[in-house]
Amino acid sequence: MPKLEGKVAIVTGAGRGIGRAHALALADAGATVVVNDLGAALSGEGHDDTPAQQVVDEIRAAGGEAAASGENVADFAGAGRLVGQAIEQFGRLDILVNNAGILRDRMLVNMTEDEWDAVINVHLKGHFAPTRHAAAYWRERSKEGDDVKGRVINTSSPSGVFGNVGQTNYGAAKAGIAAFTVIASQELGRYGVTVNCIAPNARTRMTEDTFDMGAPQDGFDPLDPANMSPLIVALSDDDAQGITGQVFHVWGGSVNALRGWTGGELFTADEGWDADVLLGELLARFPDGASPPGMVAGMQAAGGQSLSAQ
Ligand SMILES: NC(=O)c1ccc[n+]([C@@H]2O[C@H](COP(=O)([O-])OP(=O)(O)OC[C@H]3O[C@@H](n4cnc5c(N)ncnc54)[C@H](O)[C@@H]3O)[C@@H](O)[C@H]2O)c1
Repeated sequence: MPKLEGKVAIVTGAGRGIGRAHALALADAGATVVVNDLGAALSGEGHDDTPAQQVVDEIRAAGGEAAASGENVADFAGAGRLVGQAIEQFGRLDILVNNAGILRDRMLVNMTEDEWDAVINVHLKGHFAPTRHAAAYWRERSKEGDDVKGRVINTSSPSGVFGNVGQTNYGAAKAGIAAFTVIASQELGRYGVTVNCIAPNARTRMTEDTFDMGAPQDGFDPLDPANMSPLIVALSDDDAQGITGQVFHVWGGSVNALRGWTGGELFTADEGWDADVLLGELLARFPDGASPPGMVAGMQAAGGQSLSAQ
């Protein structure tokens, strides 16, 4: 069991669902946790301090140390206050788990500007803003000569890495979070910070209508949000210092370090292509056409299962 005593973690969107499981697991491993949650509806509207406070109470009842934050992670100044709270209240920050998220699914032809903007904002800016403030803090500590072992763990989605119908806004944000992870890992490595990403699968209010797979009466429940958290704790361990820039698909007990965009089918012409000749090559190489297999096929190839009841 990785030991995180003395470390301070922030988990965003930790008032319920997957973030709550991460907060409980980090606290169980000995970390002090700032439980951030706006307490929003699934669509991102509203504000309620109760969910974050309930998780803080749970951690304290189990003997851990925690504090609540109701900041909106997509508000740049609010994200700064969140990072500042960890440092002022607990003296340091070691682990940032960006997890807060919302959904506003709609087919592209009907999607409104608000549905696009809200989802892009909460996910993409909601990852950038806390990471930006935490990165400045870690750079400062590194420049002062501290042996920084910082951790950022982001939250993508099977929708972002494999592509799900009805989620151009959400999937684009989640694909952006995977790219953000790869780039941030390269920028922040010099300060001792690793940046990784999880593409989770769990039964929460976000997916209860999607996964028509109920909890089993007894035995292992692959869709228990708690299955997502051992990876967060493992990556937070000092021994994981060399693992960075990875995007992990997690389903039940299957953790798959995905390979993202890599070299695929190569077409070369020594002196550039003529469009007609290139089209001929494309048709010859793809006699049955070329199109994405869809999210479920991608999930299955990565060790997950169907969205339907088994
Ligand atoms: N459940 C799944 O199977 C699944 C699959 C892929 C990705 N995800 C991602 O995992 C993360 C957690 O999702 P979940 O299923 O636990 O959903 P959830 O709705 O149960 O939890 C999300 C939490 O984020 C909070 N939140 C929303 N906007 C916020 C903001 N601006 N600032 C602070 N907090 C905010 C909400 O109040 C909520 O408590 C999300 O990023 C989601 O997109 C979940």
